Amino acid sequence: MNKFARIIGTGSYLPPKVVTNADLEKNLDTSDEWIAARTGIKERRIVTNESTCDLAVVASNKALEMANINASELDLIILATTTPDKIFPATATMLQNAIGASCPAFDLQAVCAGYVFALTTAEQFIKAGSANKILVVGSDAMSRILDWNDRSTAILFGDGAGAVVLSSDQDTGILHSDIFSDGKYLSSLQVNNNFINETGFIEMAGNEVYRIAVNKLSSLAEKTLKECNISSDELDWMVPHQANIRIISAVAKRLNFPMEKVILTLDKHGNTSAASIPLAFDTGVRDGRIKKGDTVLFEGIGGGFSWGSVLIKF
Ligand code: ACO
Repeated sequence: MNKFARIIGTGSYLPPKVVTNADLEKNLDTSDEWIAARTGIKERRIVTNESTCDLAVVASNKALEMANINASELDLIILATTTPDKIFPATATMLQNAIGASCPAFDLQAVCAGYVFALTTAEQFIKAGSANKILVVGSDAMSRILDWNDRSTAILFGDGAGAVVLSSDQDTGILHSDIFSDGKYLSSLQVNNNFINETGFIEMAGNEVYRIAVNKLSSLAEKTLKECNISSDELDWMVPHQANIRIISAVAKRLNFPMEKVILTLDKHGNTSAASIPLAFDTGVRDGRIKKGDTVLFEGIGGGFSWGSVLIKF
């Protein structure tokens, strides 16, 4: 019998320290007006002492609480992150220990596409019948790999975590998932160290990233809807990766999809990489906009490039 992977709980967490655009003006040749107009970002949260695992623990416990299950019932944990706390062990195993789970746990790295890659991976375990309950988390502290003197990247990112609990379901859940990578874009967006023990920072050709993101995400949304035989009118919500309001608006425009049905958190969160989609999704669920039974499209793209979409019935 067909098995669906259904989201039964969501959670998120942001570190308490707020850094506004006005704060950035103090050390960078930039302005609130420039940042807000070019990106849509007004403020972001930044870790002080919190680790990637610490952020993930709070988000995961909230998702488990909403799902009404105990961590000991989990069959698998997948943690999407680009900023693991250590080279090894996997941050997912630290999370497993901290929340009191005993299942296999591994990290997955697809930068800002990490959450859609992790959901797609988790779905395969449920479809295959080898797991019934899976915790999927996106947690990143991108502030650790930012050059705070580079105004073209320092303004874009924030830290945080988002989590979902998936359960096998006979009726509905993930309807479609699609992931892609193309390594030829390496130089457009990367951390500029070659050896793992060197400290490196994000470097980016912003214009190029912008153009690639709009093209890939627009075509992928059209492809996903076509393959699922649904029109954009039938879609209740789009929860895109929160990188730049202009990327999101351009994709919505190409789909003829109203911005009122797009969940946006980037004004307050910035780009939280793998956490951005589950953070925005949890926000929409908890404030009552996204309801059980709604059809929701997740779309993410990140360095690599890697990109993907997941269509769900919530
Ligand atoms: N404050 C003020 N001026 C700035 C800043 C800043 N923070 N950053 C750049 N500028 C200047 C540039 O130096 C340039 O000046 P010049 O004309 O004198 O040379 C001018 O502003 C325009 O620069 P552009 O790079 O052309 O500005 P653009 O409109 O492309 O906006 C931005 C830059 C916001 C980075 C945009 O390209 C973008 O958002 N790209 C997508 C990048 C992204 O989202 N990356 C996240 C990771 S990947 C992902 O998540 C999808």
